[in-house]
Amino acid sequence: TKPVTTSVLRQWKLAKEKFACITAYDASFSRLFEEQGMPVMLVGDSLGMAAQGHTSTIPVSISDIAYHTRSVRRGAPNSLIMADMPFMSYSNTDDACKNAASLMRSGANIVKVEGSGSWVYETIRKLTQRSVPVSGHIGMTPQAVNIYGGFKVQGRNETAASKILEAAKQLEEAGAQSMVLECIPEALGQKISESVSIPTIGIGAGKYTDGQILVMHDALGISSGRVPRFAKNFLSGAGDIRAAVRLYMQEVKEGLYPAKEHTY
Ligand code: KIV
Ligand code: NA
Repeated sequence: TKPVTTSVLRQWKLAKEKFACITAYDASFSRLFEEQGMPVMLVGDSLGMAAQGHTSTIPVSISDIAYHTRSVRRGAPNSLIMADMPFMSYSNTDDACKNAASLMRSGANIVKVEGSGSWVYETIRKLTQRSVPVSGHIGMTPQAVNIYGGFKVQGRNETAASKILEAAKQLEEAGAQSMVLECIPEALGQKISESVSIPTIGIGAGKYTDGQILVMHDALGISSGRVPRFAKNFLSGAGDIRAAVRLYMQEVKEGLYPAKEHTY
């Protein structure tokens, strides 16, 4: 099999082929996901909640992400592996370079940073110049949960929406290879996806983004308690983990997921 690269994602965007992505934290799941044809896996700092039992992503360290990235890579040699830069690991460009290097050496193909503003664009520019591909992540950025006062949908009014659209353009301008759009209205997800030439990957951002991503625990019905609006348990309909993964990929490809009830 040919390795999945960011240029493959750009080709899919041009061809209007929707693609699914999923988080992975260990080798057993990354192997299973790759065997089912999942092109992109994110070693997300959501592992703070999904694997470590915290209530936010704040406690996750760079060595935590590096450890899980090494495991995920062993199981999935050909997938595009994106690794999250955790809270405060890219607060200045020197730290960003040092910490991104540790994720790249652990097997990541691309690192992801949250937020907008000149400091983020500067970080993306620096990393890209030093041969580290970067994905942006805007809309609801979970590392900022204590600024928001909870996990809340962003970009609801016109002013907030145009700020997020502007940030998307700045991310592309800074050299980002892709961007995650989290918890924004569907119309904004569509507008951004049409306004940038790099692939957008949505979670709670409606069906018009170029790709979709889900936390594996949400896609397989492992998460308990209150789950986000965009979560869908594909296992209950499929009956088996492999079939659930294929169902998720197929529903994304066909534009069936996300449906209205998963959308803001
Ligand atoms: O950490 C994570 O799982 C993420 C996705 C929700 C995009 O950043
Ligand atoms: Na994350």
